[in-house]
Amino acid sequence: MQLEKFNNRNVLVIGGAGYIGSVLVGKLMQAGAKVRVLDHLIYDNGYSLQHYFDEPNFSFINDDFCDGKVLNSALDGMTDVVLLASLVGDPICKRYPELAVKVNRDATHHLIDSMAEKGTERFTFASTCSNYGIHEGDALATETSDLNPQSIYAETKIAVETYILENAAKLPYSPTILRFATAYGFSPRMRFDLTVSHFASELAVGGSLDVYDPDTWRPYCHVRDLSKAIMTVLAEDKANVSGEVFNVGDTGQQFTKRMIVDEALKHIGEREVSYVSGDTDPRNYRVSFDKVAKQIDFTCDYSVERYVPSLINAVQNGVFTPSRSGNRYGNYEIPESIAKVAAG
Ligand SMILES: NC(=O)c1ccc[n+]([C@@H]2O[C@H](COP(=O)([O-])OP(=O)(O)OC[C@H]3O[C@@H](n4cnc5c(N)ncnc54)[C@H](O)[C@@H]3O)[C@@H](O)[C@H]2O)c1
Repeated sequence: MQLEKFNNRNVLVIGGAGYIGSVLVGKLMQAGAKVRVLDHLIYDNGYSLQHYFDEPNFSFINDDFCDGKVLNSALDGMTDVVLLASLVGDPICKRYPELAVKVNRDATHHLIDSMAEKGTERFTFASTCSNYGIHEGDALATETSDLNPQSIYAETKIAVETYILENAAKLPYSPTILRFATAYGFSPRMRFDLTVSHFASELAVGGSLDVYDPDTWRPYCHVRDLSKAIMTVLAEDKANVSGEVFNVGDTGQQFTKRMIVDEALKHIGEREVSYVSGDTDPRNYRVSFDKVAKQIDFTCDYSVERYVPSLINAVQNGVFTPSRSGNRYGNYEIPESIAKVAAG
């Protein structure tokens, strides 16, 4: 990646206070970009950006990107826009379905239209490999495979992908869709509601663990690698990325839930684990990451095998006290005031 390409960039990161965003923002500024974050801090997660406030290239707007006026002024002067803000994950979308449709689909369609008037040059949309839903058989899912959403979350992401692809030829900017593998890794805004960190932290503190549908497969990717992928796209020739869909991850980093438990137990020893089959979460997909490697030369630097023992070490040394309630370490609930305003 040519980092000097970021020197004259003004990058708006919508959702920049989140798990992936708070890592990306630091990397963008390190590369020389000016970064503006628009984030409504819906999980009270402003702590994730505290250490950036005295950076000269950082600015922050705490507001809702569903609000057209807010969006219009946030877009002023921005060369690049990265959309990470969403209701992220199946459980939170299931709990707030109307808000999920409003934020993940309707407000995003409005953003796509608005950027056409604002001189934006590039747009990166964070989508998900969850769109493949159930993809069985030996063949890996590629960007052209059928999508098979199993949740409102994936349905809203697919609706936006379709809107982008249908309009790509007439948009005056370069749009790129990134289908991220499930994230893991250390971030200023940790999430322990995602499989690798959930399992490893729970086992590290000696808790019993229920694992649903243990033999279903998923690809995984470190937050730093996901951030690197976004920056690779922003630095790439437009001809290679405009109107393109890329799976983002590593073909060698795909595991069943049982394999992740086994990886954690290697570093911990015996624990009580209950395996429960029964289609609680039927998603099951293995994905090809060949296109992103071949077309834009993106490969991952991190692995689940390296992360798991380091997370166990951090948890066992009291660095985190993961909790399955509140929002400090996950996407569990949205304050009524925000849910109400945003649904308004
Ligand atoms: N984390 C994963 O495993 C994963 C996997 C695949 C794709 N993705 C995609 O990556 C993106 C980022 O994921 P994440 O894990 O960092 O999520 P996150 O929930 O940690 O962060 C999302 C951020 O968006 C903000 N936000 C939500 N609604 C908003 C609104 N209306 N206005 C302004 N800000 C708002 C939240 O306050 C939060 O800071 C999402 O689009 C997600 O769909 C994530």
